[in-house]
Amino acid sequence: MDIQRLLCDRPRGIQVSGIRRVFELGAKLPDPINLSIGQPDFPVPDPIKQAAIEAIREDRNGYTLTQGIPELRDRIERELAMDLGWSFGARTDPRVLVTGGTSGALLLAFLCMIGPGDEFIIPDPYFVMYPHLAALCAGRAVLCDTYPDFRMTAERVEPLITERTKVVLFNSPGNPTGVVATRDECRDLLELCRSRGVLLISDEIYDGFTFEDGLTDTAARDSGLRKCPSPARFGGASEDVLVVRGFGKTYGVTGWRMGYCAGPEPLITEMAKLQQYTFVCSPSIAQWGCLAALDTDITAHVRDYQARRDLVVARLSAVTRVATPAGAFYAFPEVPRSLGITGSQLCERAIQRNVLTIPGAVFSSRDTNLRLSYATRRDKLEAGLDILVELLGG
Ligand SMILES: Cc1ncc(COP(=O)(O)O)c(C=O)c1O
Repeated sequence: MDIQRLLCDRPRGIQVSGIRRVFELGAKLPDPINLSIGQPDFPVPDPIKQAAIEAIREDRNGYTLTQGIPELRDRIERELAMDLGWSFGARTDPRVLVTGGTSGALLLAFLCMIGPGDEFIIPDPYFVMYPHLAALCAGRAVLCDTYPDFRMTAERVEPLITERTKVVLFNSPGNPTGVVATRDECRDLLELCRSRGVLLISDEIYDGFTFEDGLTDTAARDSGLRKCPSPARFGGASEDVLVVRGFGKTYGVTGWRMGYCAGPEPLITEMAKLQQYTFVCSPSIAQWGCLAALDTDITAHVRDYQARRDLVVARLSAVTRVATPAGAFYAFPEVPRSLGITGSQLCERAIQRNVLTIPGAVFSSRDTNLRLSYATRRDKLEAGLDILVELLGG
């Protein structure tokens, strides 16, 4: 049978991730210095593993409610109440949905919000999934150019809003740049979206990895907040912002496929309906494991990542332009124009020297930068930086 002929346009509109290509190349190298990895390198804390193991042993292996187990939803609601100041009503009024990773939450939200002819605005550079949401939902992704400081400000977004715009997708701390928005930037973007009747979706998957300088923008410090700035933290935001968070990056359980979202009740209700007929529910044992995760302190790891960030910025900024990441575990240095090569070409040169990074073009309409992840052993990171600094012309 000619399956190719039978395939519809949806998958054809989507390219295989450029990250996969780097993985394939990397698999051929005997012992690469791998600075391409998008997940933490510390072991999953024991209480989280234990909670999942216990769930298996105690036969909590079946389907759960589509929205997630009540224990986890209660704990998430407490977390959001503390962190964002949101309040939650009765169980019959669902405002939290536990999803199949952060990706699951984003897909469901877009399936509910975006249809043919609808537009949504995403940052450029972006997380690899974002532009493909257009093909999945038959909508149109409009790129907001955030170079060179990688700030998705209201000023940059405003001219892109049309009568077809339904969603602005915001991501701080950002992948691939690690840049963290300030409280004022979050407030301005929320106000813009409100004034134009557009839903703001805030992808906060890296919120647990925010460094001191990301947390301490003056207004947040003055109000005593030690959290990552978020547009969801302003009065009434639960009506206008869909906040999307995950467990995978924060606790090193990316393979468990656990995320959650909270926001306007009518949207969460529709998302839960779609989840019921697609993912059904998040993995039961992972839900029990993640219940323990929310009481696990990862501050020591975040401090360690901040020290690595300092090293990366110190080494790279001596030879090129790099926006200081205040969160996540990525940096997105520019390939100096004087070299006369693209980000992809620099990545190829790095591969020849046994170092894996990802070309900026995988995350952007431009091919001028590269993404490196410092979620890797310190000695490997130092060795990789030596080579990158040399290749970048230092
Ligand atoms: C910004 C951003 N959003 C969403 C995701 C998807 O995360 P998950 O593994 O929870 O689906 C990632 C993963 O790299 C990411 O970087």
